[in-house]
This record gives sequence, structure tokens and C-alpha cells, in this order.
Amino acid sequence: MSKIKNVEYGLEKIFKDAKDFLPLLGTDYVEFIVGNAKQAAHFYKTAFGFQSYAYKGLETGCKDYASYVVKQDKIRIVLTTPLNQDSWMNEHLSKHGDGVKVVALWVDDAKKSWEETTKRGAKSYMEPTVEKDEHGEIVRAGIYTYGETVHIFVERKNYTGVFLPGYKKWESEYNPEPMGLKFIDHMVGNVGWNEMDIWVKYYEDVMGFVNFLSFDDKQITTEYSALMSKVMSNGNGRIKFPINEPAEGKKKSQIEEYLDFYNGPGVQHIAVASNDIIDTVAKMRAKGVEFLSTPPDDYYKSVPKRLSDHNHELEEDIEKLKSLGIMIDADEEGYLLQIFTKPIEDRPTLFFEIIQRMGARGFGAGNFKALFEAIEREQENRGTL
Ligand code: FE2
Repeated sequence: MSKIKNVEYGLEKIFKDAKDFLPLLGTDYVEFIVGNAKQAAHFYKTAFGFQSYAYKGLETGCKDYASYVVKQDKIRIVLTTPLNQDSWMNEHLSKHGDGVKVVALWVDDAKKSWEETTKRGAKSYMEPTVEKDEHGEIVRAGIYTYGETVHIFVERKNYTGVFLPGYKKWESEYNPEPMGLKFIDHMVGNVGWNEMDIWVKYYEDVMGFVNFLSFDDKQITTEYSALMSKVMSNGNGRIKFPINEPAEGKKKSQIEEYLDFYNGPGVQHIAVASNDIIDTVAKMRAKGVEFLSTPPDDYYKSVPKRLSDHNHELEEDIEKLKSLGIMIDADEEGYLLQIFTKPIEDRPTLFFEIIQRMGARGFGAGNFKALFEAIEREQENRGTL
């Protein structure tokens, strides 16, 4: 498996090359534009174990859209839907279907983050804006990234209210238990043909990120389809954005399929961390979340050797991992456990990854082949291969 990796370890050294003009404290929230936010919120509560957190809509005086915020540990997802035909969101929905519009980043100084990035070439989405209520003030500012996706910088150091001004606490009588999802580990973007280097350069120049892992189309390929991927990270390693570009193969790659159905670049998957992936995935499966098919027996037979080659020992019961379809990958630093949902909407676009890191800081390169073959089986079923 080592040949499909181009792991330049010594990450601390690499991270030092990141520029510090844009200190990021973490992911603040991810906002989806959806066709029916009320129902989407119910899905994330029931199927993923999210909790009711905040709400904005007609009852709070917002006449244009409704937003439901659901939360699990450090993860906040905002589900927004338009309330009338004049909203810009209708076009977003008709073009992309349900999808991610905003990847919000938590910063100490939103105005400075906007100034530093726009002066380096970012296109402004939202000028620095102060929002106030009786709990203090929030400053937000935004820039465009790939496709119609945006980054919003959120400064919340002078705010004590729930979520953002304009929202009220969302109290619900339906409160399913959390399922062990902790924080966003990484979020992946799909970009168009020949656009990878444009966006790598964007994250380097505009946001001060570094490219710390790269996979070319010879490394990420199956018999039928191929893609290229580069992982961008900020200087403290908390924000990781891998970027995928399709590559020529015998048949249509999954990235091309995404671009067709999303009508352009956008967020492909959100990877969320769990400390107990076996428990998390068992609970999600019990609530009807569909995952990609389990890799074949041979895959699991090769796991002990893949770990021992790197001097690691699996702490989990391999039969349990196999019965849930959880994949395992190892590198010099440790191993990781991961699994991918099927797309969570009817268009084959956005999906989720559940990941548990046991020391490894990679992205499961050793699983790419098994993963892509599983995706190709789905594409075959959809008639889009
Ligand atoms: Fe991932």
C-alpha cells in the first residue's frame, strides 16, 4: 500500500510553512440550503444523533427563510430553506439540490480575516457585518471559494447568546441521544477539470494554507475511474480541506458524476470524528443510515498484515468492524477507522464520512481502491458510470 501514498511526514515542519495572517480557531458551523429544513433537521436528529439547538423563522420575525441549527458536541449544522419565491436560495436549490453553501470558520477577528483574504485575491461574499442582540455582538464576514460555496468568518468573543443574534433557542420535545459524533475532521471539495491547481493556489495564497498530502490519478484509480486529490491544511492543522479533481478513466469518475448532478464544484463530503466508531455506526445503521457496501473478505484478511507492517496492533475486534463495514488503514504514525455513507439526498452529491483516528493523520489512502469500487457499484446501479 505504500506505493499509493505520498506521505511527506514531519507534518509539524510542513505546517510551519503555513502563513499566520489568518489564524483559525476551528470550524464554526456548516450551513446547508435545503428544500425542507424542518424535515432535514428531523433527519439529522433521528439518524445522526444531533440535538435541537437554535431556530430562526417566521416566529422570530424572519420572513424570508427558516433556519434550524442542530448540534452534536462541537459540530453545528445549519439547515436553511427559503420561505418565498423571491429568495436567491430557490435558484441555489434548483441548480444544486440540497447542499452545503457555507463553511464557517471561527476566528478571533472577522474584519481582519476578511481584509487579509480579500487583499490577497479572495472575492468578497459579505463585508464585515456586526450583528447585535441583548447577549452581545457577533462580527461576520465572508469570501467565495470553489463554485458557489463560501467561507464565513465568525467572531464570537463578545457574544454569550445561543448561536447568532436573530436566533432563539430551539426547545423540542423530541430529543434523541447523541451518537458519539465529536467534531469535523475534514471537509472535501470537488472542483472541475483542470481546476485543482487553481484552488490549491487559492488556499495557499489567499488563506495561507499548505498542501500536505497529494494523490495523483495513478495512485487513485480503479479499473474504471480515477481522480486526483490534494489536502490543504491551515497552520494549526485544525482545518483540513482536501480538494478532488476528476481524471480520465475508462468510465465516468465519481467526481464527474458529482459535478454533473451538483452543476459545478461543491462540498463532496464532511468527515466527522467519533471516539467509538463501532458504537456510532451501529446506532446510525439502526436508524436507517445507509453506508457504502462492506469491502470483500479479502480486504479484512489483509488488515492484520497492513497494521503489522507499520508495527501497529488493532485494538478493536476485527469481526465487529467487518460486520459494520468499517474500513481500516495504517501509516507510520498509527491507524484509522472510517466508513462512508451513501449520498444523503437523491442527487448523488454530498455524503458523510465517520472517522476514528488511532494515531494516523492520513485520509485512508490504503482504502481508496476498496472505497471507489464500492462507489462504482452504486454508480452502476444509478446508470451513471
Ligand atoms: Fe474523507
